[in-house]
Amino acid sequence: MAEATLDLRGLPKSQAYSELASHIEAVLDGIDDDIAEMATVSALVHNAFGFLWTGFYRVVTPGKLMRVGPYQGTLGCLEIAFGRGVCGTAAAERRAVVVHDVETFPGHIACDASARSEIVLPVIDSSGDLIAVFDIDSEHTGTFDSEDERGLAQVLSRFAR
Ligand code: SME
Repeated sequence: MAEATLDLRGLPKSQAYSELASHIEAVLDGIDDDIAEMATVSALVHNAFGFLWTGFYRVVTPGKLMRVGPYQGTLGCLEIAFGRGVCGTAAAERRAVVVHDVETFPGHIACDASARSEIVLPVIDSSGDLIAVFDIDSEHTGTFDSEDERGLAQVLSRFAR
């Protein structure tokens, strides 16, 4: 198994995500188990960048309800309905949502009051079904942009293999 968690703070985002993706692929080589993969991705992404909250909401009732999955950080909300908050919007529309300042996002769900910006990406399996969303919260505004979206989508593409 590949060595410990990486700290990628301070690197240009493109380089950080490239190293992160290689590291995750090495650590999870030969593993095909959604929970083990979600737990490992959460731990490695969270510690690479020092985010506030990093983890998955799993689809438990397609089109209706998600429940918290593996995550790192402060206590997360247990359930989120499709269409509610940033996570529910990403799930309902099956698209990445980048929020520069959570105070400007109507219906944002504040699981932790110190969250200031957020990115949520859909997680699609090999059948094309939405199985989860991957959510990251930062305690600073404007943390995420299209480079984060691209880098994280690359990491999550393993769930579609
Ligand atoms: N802020 C999210 C809820 C999940 S947590 O922040 C962990 C949202 O609005 O969907």
